[in-house]
Amino acid sequence: MQAKTAKESQTILTDMVLPGETNALNNLFGGELLARMDRAASIAAGRHCRRIVVTASVNHVAFNKAVPLGSVVTVEAKVSRAFKTSMEVVIDVWIEDRESGKKTKANEGIYTFVAVDNTGQPVDVPEVMPETDLEKQRFAAALRRKQLSLLLAGKIKPNDASELKALFE
Ligand SMILES: CC(C)(COP(=O)(O)OP(=O)(O)OC[C@H]1O[C@@H](n2cnc3c(N)ncnc32)[C@H](O)[C@@H]1OP(=O)(O)O)[C@@H](O)C(=O)NCCC(=O)NCCS
Repeated sequence: MQAKTAKESQTILTDMVLPGETNALNNLFGGELLARMDRAASIAAGRHCRRIVVTASVNHVAFNKAVPLGSVVTVEAKVSRAFKTSMEVVIDVWIEDRESGKKTKANEGIYTFVAVDNTGQPVDVPEVMPETDLEKQRFAAALRRKQLSLLLAGKIKPNDASELKALFE
């Protein structure tokens, strides 16, 4: 299977924040943002492997900045690393200033998707070739995050988390 660049999976969704999507402080409801992130990440994972993909895990989400009503929000997702059947997707969320057009990073997340066949069985995916410094950093750290996610899900034993153990040695 031919490897693909991270850039080939890049997916950018831009939308506004409407009144039905906000909390009592008139900021974007967290669950709504998670759904937008999941949608962009799912498209990115699908672009990478050209298969059906399912969300296996939400590994990390940081709501660093509130997103006010009326904001223009851009959700940018890219596959950072692919393993055998799973792919890590990193999602960056930006808010655009209405007057200047300047984009500020508001939030970020890391999701894991698995490629499956029509019966839901995992299938192999192509490798990722990172190109930029940021893509290379994210690629390098992805195995550690995969092991942490599997460990927390009870799917591997602490002794098998070699990348995590290496952090403490
Ligand atoms: C995701 C799913 C396909 C995994 O199936 P499974 O039988 O556990 O398959 P495996 O154990 O072979 O795991 C498949 C891959 O997922 C990875 N994976 C499974 N759980 C994971 C987790 N919690 N975190 C990170 N990766 C995970 C495995 O490491 C493996 O990756 P690899 O092949 O690249 O090494 C299955 O659990 C599923 O269909 N879940 C429901 C998905 C869904 O409906 N999502 C939407 C939520 S509403």
